[in-house]
Amino acid sequence: MVTSFSLKDRVAVVTGGGQNTGLGIAHTLAAAGAHVIVNDIAAERAEEAAASVREAGGSATAAPFDITSYEDVVSAMKRVRSDIGRIDILVNNAGLPAGSQMLPFLDTPRNEWNPYLDINIYGSLHMMHALLPGMIEQGWGRVVQISSGSGSVASRGLGGTFYGASKAGIEGAVRHIATEVGPMGVTVNTLALGLMEKLRDVIESKASPMLNAIWEGNVMQRIGTGEDVGAACLWLCSDAGEFVSGQTIHLNGGSFSGR
Ligand SMILES: NC(=O)c1ccc[n+]([C@@H]2O[C@H](COP(=O)([O-])OP(=O)(O)OC[C@H]3O[C@@H](n4cnc5c(N)ncnc54)[C@H](O)[C@@H]3O)[C@@H](O)[C@H]2O)c1
Repeated sequence: MVTSFSLKDRVAVVTGGGQNTGLGIAHTLAAAGAHVIVNDIAAERAEEAAASVREAGGSATAAPFDITSYEDVVSAMKRVRSDIGRIDILVNNAGLPAGSQMLPFLDTPRNEWNPYLDINIYGSLHMMHALLPGMIEQGWGRVVQISSGSGSVASRGLGGTFYGASKAGIEGAVRHIATEVGPMGVTVNTLALGLMEKLRDVIESKASPMLNAIWEGNVMQRIGTGEDVGAACLWLCSDAGEFVSGQTIHLNGGSFSGR
């Protein structure tokens, strides 16, 4: 039997959905029929993103909060559940701490270690801890964790120790959580991204030798868009994705496949 890619009657939360990757994911899920709750720490950005989804003919509301605060996550998700009734899909997309600057390990002061772990590990776990019980209770749920190639591969000159460690850490947690919730109808997977829209200017200007080197390995010679990631989320979050769980899937223009 051919399974469906429709998200009709599903409710999805996309964290960090106010721009770039998260915005593309929100639009894609809404175009497939989901009602999308657009989270962002920047309230105006969340409101504008939800409005843009509605303008495109989709259904969306904004939910501004900081995913690094467990209390804020729990109270925001309680509010959504009492307003809308259910949450079926979580896309943990927020993952770059505001104002962060990647530096070599030995040049990174101790007080700059935590923000990456706070957003990528604890922020993502806060969201899963708040939403998985409802998914288990209804016997159906989907979680997509957005990660980076930095969780698997180190790039010389990136200064990605804490970013990479936080992405590798949450990928490990995803595998374990997937084993706990799978029997209850909930899948949990990771999409690890390569070079994305946010970096377009610096890639096109060739200003960063490190990014130039990563770009050289991009077989498709194209920067990834939020809609590319949205398409993979759509597969994983629909009934068609039911047999996939605990996996890390790389979306990177073929970067690990050739030079
Ligand atoms: N940009 C890339 O090339 C690239 C590469 C690999 C992986 N990724 C991953 O893709 C995801 C999205 O990245 P992007 O390029 O769209 O980044 P972005 O900075 O353009 O967007 C991230 C959004 O998250 C929001 N946000 C930040 N902290 C938050 C918090 N604590 N709570 C709620 N929202 C918060 C920001 O306000 C912003 O709107 C991240 O997980 C990132 O690590 C990006």
